Amino acid sequence: TGGVLVDRYGRVARDLRVSLTDKCNLRCTYCMPAEGLPWLGGPQLLTDDEVIRLIRVAVRQLGVTEVRFTGGEPLIRPGLVGIVAAVAALDPRPRLSVTTNGIGLERMAPALRAAGLDRVNVSLDTLHRERFARLTRRDRLPDVLAGLAGAATAGLTPVKVNSVLMRGVNDDEAPALLRFALDHGYELRFIEQMPLDAQHGWDRASMVTAAEILTALRTAYALSPDPTERGAAPAETWLVDGGPARVGVIGTVTRPFCGDCDRTRLTADGQIRNCLFATEESDLRGALRAGADDAELARRWRAATWGKRAGHGIDDPTFLQPARPMSAIGG
Ligand code: GTP
Ligand code: 5AD
Ligand code: SF4
Repeated sequence: TGGVLVDRYGRVARDLRVSLTDKCNLRCTYCMPAEGLPWLGGPQLLTDDEVIRLIRVAVRQLGVTEVRFTGGEPLIRPGLVGIVAAVAALDPRPRLSVTTNGIGLERMAPALRAAGLDRVNVSLDTLHRERFARLTRRDRLPDVLAGLAGAATAGLTPVKVNSVLMRGVNDDEAPALLRFALDHGYELRFIEQMPLDAQHGWDRASMVTAAEILTALRTAYALSPDPTERGAAPAETWLVDGGPARVGVIGTVTRPFCGDCDRTRLTADGQIRNCLFATEESDLRGALRAGADDAELARRWRAATWGKRAGHGIDDPTFLQPARPMSAIGG
């Protein structure tokens, strides 16, 4: 295991999630308040060159094979296309994906594809325009639908759709969302709501569980176990009506998958997080700006990985939500 990112439980991180900004053009109620958050300031953010440098270290020295760009909303990062192109030019070339809310994706998909992006995951919690406007506090459902279509047309496939169900808000939409995904050839995954919101308003009772989601889907579809290897994927998948179409559930809380985790995270301000729910970060930006060479950056990243906890700990009585919200971690 010479240079790879391994923790004391033997898990190896090969999947790097890079947050490119903590800002977003939506205000999903389960994520951030209407007024937004105190965004990171200019000098705190890694420059495009710094982001590329750290990803190069991860790919060339640490064995990372998958790079996903997240946010906030990564499409609002001005340098995104250039960053994708630079990372796609690395040898070995990592697989490249983006997780986005879909706004602006219709316009950007061709350039992202040309730069080397492989695929996208797009968030979509409801198909009703008014509900969408209430849930995200912006009337942008048509832009998201156009973004999804544009991604498929540009070949950013498989296009995956992420849906968070909220009790009394959109939990009646599970079968309709699946119908929509099947009709368009998108791969739908439902996500259990996690205690990562800026307002600290998560509570277990209002979380729609994986079991509830599966029950709702089974009122309209036959689900059977998916024989394909799950690996480290957060989503557990089922074949829909015998396949080949699939549907997934990311059951962080009730069906945790930490034992197989292969992820490491870089925040927009240059901090390494070894877990979504980590309470500590490791400052690579400081080291980088102090003149550390690639070997030193790699050493720090390995050290930050070793102490990764066995699991998220949401069920522990002493669980504390991380200080930073989802939008600043990158999901
Ligand atoms: P692919 O399956 O490779 O397409 O990616 P993904 O599902 O990991 O990525 P995406 O960014 O679409 O994330 C979907 C959901 O999974 C988000 O809510 C993420 O926060 C969540 N997720 C991703 N990685 C982890 C993880 O390591 N732990 C937990 N608990 N959730 C994660
Ligand atoms: N719990 C679960 N999923 C969340 N997302 C954002 N905040 C939360 C949360 N607290 C989802 C977004 C997006 C994906 C990256 O994570 O809706 O689809
Ligand atoms: Fe990995 Fe942490 Fe997510 Fe568990 S909660 S899967 S350990 S990042």
